[in-house]
Amino acid sequence: MRKEMEPHSSSCYYSPSLVLLLSLLVCFTSQIIQKAIAAPANSTVPAVLVFGDSMVDTGNNDYIPTLAKCNFRPYGRDFMGGIPTGRFSNGKVPPDLIVEALEIKELLPAYLDPNLTLQDLLTGVNFASGGGGYDPLTSNVETAISLSDQLKLFEEYIEKVKNGVGEERSKTIVSDSLYALCTGSNDIATTYFSTPLRKLQYNIAAYTDLLVQFASTFIQELYRLGARKIVVFGLPPIGCVPSQRTIAGGTTRICVEKYNDAAMLFNSKLSSQLTLLNNTLPQSTFLYVDIYKPALDLIQSPYKYGFEEATIGCCGTGKIETAIVLCDGNPLSCTDTSKYIFWDSYHPTEKAYEVILTPILKNLNSVF
Ligand SMILES: *[C@@H]1O[C@H](CO)[C@@H](O)[C@H](O)[C@H]1NC(C)=O
Ligand SMILES: *[C@@H]1O[C@H](CO)[C@@H](O)[C@H](O)[C@H]1NC(C)=O
Ligand SMILES: *[C@@H]1O[C@H](CO)[C@@H](O)[C@H](O)[C@H]1NC(C)=O
Repeated sequence: MRKEMEPHSSSCYYSPSLVLLLSLLVCFTSQIIQKAIAAPANSTVPAVLVFGDSMVDTGNNDYIPTLAKCNFRPYGRDFMGGIPTGRFSNGKVPPDLIVEALEIKELLPAYLDPNLTLQDLLTGVNFASGGGGYDPLTSNVETAISLSDQLKLFEEYIEKVKNGVGEERSKTIVSDSLYALCTGSNDIATTYFSTPLRKLQYNIAAYTDLLVQFASTFIQELYRLGARKIVVFGLPPIGCVPSQRTIAGGTTRICVEKYNDAAMLFNSKLSSQLTLLNNTLPQSTFLYVDIYKPALDLIQSPYKYGFEEATIGCCGTGKIETAIVLCDGNPLSCTDTSKYIFWDSYHPTEKAYEVILTPILKNLNSVF
């Protein structure tokens, strides 16, 4: 298992944008809005299990050989006394906000954390890995845990739960838990637009079809293993993240329309596919979550939500730094993260994640 997660020596391709991407979208400090998250009445969800990339990784990459790491300062600056945990943000990231909203626990631990207890397993863990994507090439290039390896870890997880609480209860936990999938930004921004790996064979219409096919296969595998309540996040306006503005937005760093169009195209195909799965896989509930619109609105009208800076990240110059690249100890980093939508050049602050997700999480309970 671990062997399969070793970096492939044939994939040492690195461009600055690849490195940027490593740190894909993460979240923020929440003191302000936290309390607004609705307490679900009788949640029937025993655990939350998350798959995806750096937007949702809560520390798995701390334990694998990869450059996509952020277990150092200033990551986690506004989190639990400033401890870097491997979350690609200044504070909490979406999986934490989800378990908090469902009143299950405060944080969703990384599955590879060696200190997990049985209780941790029974209330949910996270398999996500920064740098990953739907496309297996993306995980190879960025040496992340691929979605298929995340599934293998999930199978291992099921075995552990079974050994801990028995077959019967483990089945209930698997079928009643909430599954969340959040990935795809790296596929479009990095693998497709910043390398020749896929562009030579696919136009964007064909590539988004391929990604949806990967997504659909993954979801059906999850279903086969017993998952029934699955939330899938669409892509954000990736052309508007600071690093992409810097790389492809010209001298005035405008949003890269081509990237945003690709994200929207993917989202509409993904959402249709989920509706199809919703209608064909018995006893399942799929939820497509649109983050594109709320994230774009936030970026276009930061003041409306109490932010002042929408085009650069807090860390370093905010234009290009992500994770291992120059964020660490950079004296240019901002002092007041709460004014920033982006923490680094790729990942949102905790506060931005909260603004985007709070209305969505309020409704989770009525769906599941
Ligand atoms: C849960 O449901 C029961 C019975 O329907 C109700 O009495 C109780 O108040 C509910 N709990 C919460 C936290 O709403
Ligand atoms: C795991 O527990 C050991 C012993 O308490 C501790 O030293 C270590 O820091 C812990 N690791 C993590 C990742 O929490
Ligand atoms: C799946 O069906 C439920 C209702 O049973 C609905 O709330 C949800 O939006 C549907 N999901 C999709 C992706 O169509």
